[in-house]
Amino acid sequence: MLYYTRIEYIKIFKEEMMKNLFKKILLLMVFSASIAYAQVKSVTVPSHSVPKQPIIIQGPMPIEAQNLAARLENVREERTGNYIFYIGTLNDYPVIVAKTSKGMENTAAATAIAIERFKPAAVINQGTSGGHDKSLNVGDIVLGKRTFNAGNFKTLTKNEKEGSNPFEWLPMDVMASEGSAGENTDAEKVRYYEGNPMLLKAANAVKNQYKRGKVVEGTVASANFWNNEIDRINWLHEEFGSSVEEMEAASAALICEAYKVPFLTIRVLSNNKTNGGKYDPSTAKDCQDYVEKVVKEYIKMLEK
Ligand code: 5AD
Repeated sequence: MLYYTRIEYIKIFKEEMMKNLFKKILLLMVFSASIAYAQVKSVTVPSHSVPKQPIIIQGPMPIEAQNLAARLENVREERTGNYIFYIGTLNDYPVIVAKTSKGMENTAAATAIAIERFKPAAVINQGTSGGHDKSLNVGDIVLGKRTFNAGNFKTLTKNEKEGSNPFEWLPMDVMASEGSAGENTDAEKVRYYEGNPMLLKAANAVKNQYKRGKVVEGTVASANFWNNEIDRINWLHEEFGSSVEEMEAASAALICEAYKVPFLTIRVLSNNKTNGGKYDPSTAKDCQDYVEKVVKEYIKMLEK
């Protein structure tokens, strides 16, 4: 049996009281902390999905870009050099219309800048062209199954007073090697860039919706050249299979290939010297209306 003195008893009693009080305070603190926690305001941020890569639609002249740019939603403009990028959406998908300005140099630069800046899923180069094929009329559209540079040639060697004969010129492939294209006989060939099969599929899927003319697959010849000599047009058509000529597609194709970006050119005939088809700039708008349908179809295919 354990007996306490009165003083010891009071001391123990006080200690027990203090312990109890301490426990109660601790409990109160935990309780009020949990109430405070429950009342904290919060916001939950969902995880990001992979951003959609934009589709770029190029048009060289304002009349070849502005109609499409006006169709975009939520548009803002970025300007650099000779180029305007209209950045917006089509059916909630990011689409950028690029006014590249005319010619091979402008188009190459505008394509490289766009790829570096916007990391596109695809590039469509579109606009007007001149017919090399008698069976194609002003208003018809050529889908670029193949595109080549029709300004890359090597002449034969001739001495003074021996003249110049363009029909003897050899095609020259500047991408054949890193060495001299003039000395390398392996560079005496034409380089065709194929149109991307999925873009071609989208373009073919909506071709019946184009009412101004027919839509065919063909070969697009590009160079800073406007050919008015029927014999030269026929030579390009027979030697290289050109359907139409224009001044941009092959330079965009080369840059897209360098960066491994899917590419297609879509070209409406605004003129055709081979069958008397007079220049009609209103074809540029019809082409853009068709390209809008192609892009919407391609977006559907991407989102499947
Ligand atoms: N030859 C060359 N370019 C043509 N274009 C339209 N028709 C022709 C043609 N017959 C296009 C070019 C350039 C602008 C002059 O029009 O692509 O952008």
